[in-house]
Amino acid sequence: MTLDLSARHALVTGASRGIGRAIAAALGAAGARVAVHYHRRAQAARSVAEAAGNGARVFQADLAADGAAGALFDDVADAFGTVDVLVNNAGVARALPFAPGNGDDAFTEADWRAGWQQTMAVNLRAPEALCRRAVPHFRENGGGRIINVASRAAFRGDTPDYLAYAASKAGLVALTRSVARAFGEDGVCAFALAPGFTRTDMAQDFIDAYGEAHALEGNALGRLTEPEDLAPTAVLLASGRADHATGTCIDLNAASYVR
Ligand SMILES: NC(=O)c1ccc[n+]([C@@H]2O[C@H](COP(=O)([O-])OP(=O)(O)OC[C@H]3O[C@@H](n4cnc5c(N)ncnc54)[C@H](OP(=O)(O)O)[C@@H]3O)[C@@H](O)[C@H]2O)c1
Repeated sequence: MTLDLSARHALVTGASRGIGRAIAAALGAAGARVAVHYHRRAQAARSVAEAAGNGARVFQADLAADGAAGALFDDVADAFGTVDVLVNNAGVARALPFAPGNGDDAFTEADWRAGWQQTMAVNLRAPEALCRRAVPHFRENGGGRIINVASRAAFRGDTPDYLAYAASKAGLVALTRSVARAFGEDGVCAFALAPGFTRTDMAQDFIDAYGEAHALEGNALGRLTEPEDLAPTAVLLASGRADHATGTCIDLNAASYVR
């Protein structure tokens, strides 16, 4: 089966590195024109766009900022004419000490609240705002596909310091299912991906703290998942060849959490 995405336009958030970079590269290799979104790493994003080819371009936005997500969608739609695929990948995973101590004493109640707010803004509110823009755009342009990058934590839960992260990802799964059910008749399909530990900067913080063996716990393949292990699934979902799986969340965790 050949997946041909030529003539498709895809917006991938958080595509400057990690999982987003791998998805942008794979979509480009399949022929799509990719809008490579980044927050701080402009040079890295430019390299991703160059490698993706097909007229890929970079777009900057701080998705924690009010109104930024909607403006990002509008910018891409203006530049490309249409958007066919939205990949909500950008995310943050901040450790927010549930019970500060052992050197975390400087972590205040205000830090806790700000951490929850930032996590929800980037991981859930920005995807929500992008979906809100994408749905009518897709409806007007013959349909489209949304791929939301959630996490194993949405189902398994996470450690006490990552309550906000897990909650944001569970919200993202529920958002995906609701969009799929509500707008299928408008030609909108929505999918979620739930990776386990994947070798990126985000996972590196954890690996530095606890070691790679800990990150590999329960991984049936005995090899830490790489971003490139996830990207082909995103291409399949973006291609339209899996539309009858709309509403689904695909686990990509090497059987470390089987539900
Ligand atoms: N790695 C894992 O083990 C793992 C497991 C399960 C799920 N996930 C999910 O997979 C997705 C990608 O994770 P990753 O591991 O590839 O992360 P990563 O390497 O830390 O990259 C994060 C990406 O998000 C962007 N970003 C961060 N804060 C942003 C903000 N305020 N506004 C806009 N963009 C922002 C970054 O942009 P800049 O680089 O330009 O700053 C970067 O492109 C996330 O949603 C994450 O929760 C990851």
